[in-house]
Amino acid sequence: MLGPVLVGERITLAPARPEHLPEFVRWFADLEVTRFLLVRFPFSEKQEQEWYDSVAGDRTCVHWAIFREERLIGVTGIHQIDWINRNAITGTILGVRDEWGKGFATEAVRLRTQFAFQELNLERLESQSFAENGGMHKALQRSGYREIGRRSHARFSEGSWHDIILFELLRDQWQAAAG
Ligand SMILES: CC(C)(COP(=O)(O)OP(=O)(O)OC[C@H]1O[C@@H](n2cnc3c(N)ncnc32)[C@H](O)[C@@H]1OP(=O)(O)O)[C@@H](O)C(=O)NCCC(=O)NCCS
Repeated sequence: MLGPVLVGERITLAPARPEHLPEFVRWFADLEVTRFLLVRFPFSEKQEQEWYDSVAGDRTCVHWAIFREERLIGVTGIHQIDWINRNAITGTILGVRDEWGKGFATEAVRLRTQFAFQELNLERLESQSFAENGGMHKALQRSGYREIGRRSHARFSEGSWHDIILFELLRDQWQAAAG
């Protein structure tokens, strides 16, 4: 599913549109952007179109584009939703490098997390991140996500092995973190 518009203080989450797909293709061709992603090969525009069509009709995910004013800067989503156990996997990518380090991932995680618990009625969210991806860790932890484990040498890139850190967030923990 494409997510509804969620207005934050400095960013807005809104449904991606087909005209955004060429931008997604560019992001996935940038090895700096994909440094901490599991996918490091670009998609074709045709593959992006197929992906878009499948996401729009997939009731086990909610996907948003992230906008700063009118500028598309990233994507975020809730994936693999298990409607019986009310679990899901979350992820974020800021494809525009000059927008990194300004707190936008932190805000996107906050908006997405509130939606996951208050609108989707989920109970548990899980996310994974390269051990070196300090920015993502902080953004997750600020919404209450806690580190629960590590997959050692789970990925090989740039000439060496990397560990993946697992994070989880339960509804109660989120409520406690939100005060
Ligand atoms: C990882 C990513 C989402 C972080 O987004 P962001 O908007 O830069 O994150 P924020 O600005 O909200 O950062 C949160 C905090 O982490 C800090 N931070 C950012 N990059 C950091 C890094 N490499 N190491 C340590 N801290 C970092 C920020 O300064 C900020 O802390 P502060 O408020 O105390 O200054 C973004 O860099 C990105 O999309 N990268 C490419 C794709 C990717 O790796 N996605 C995540 C896959 S799990």
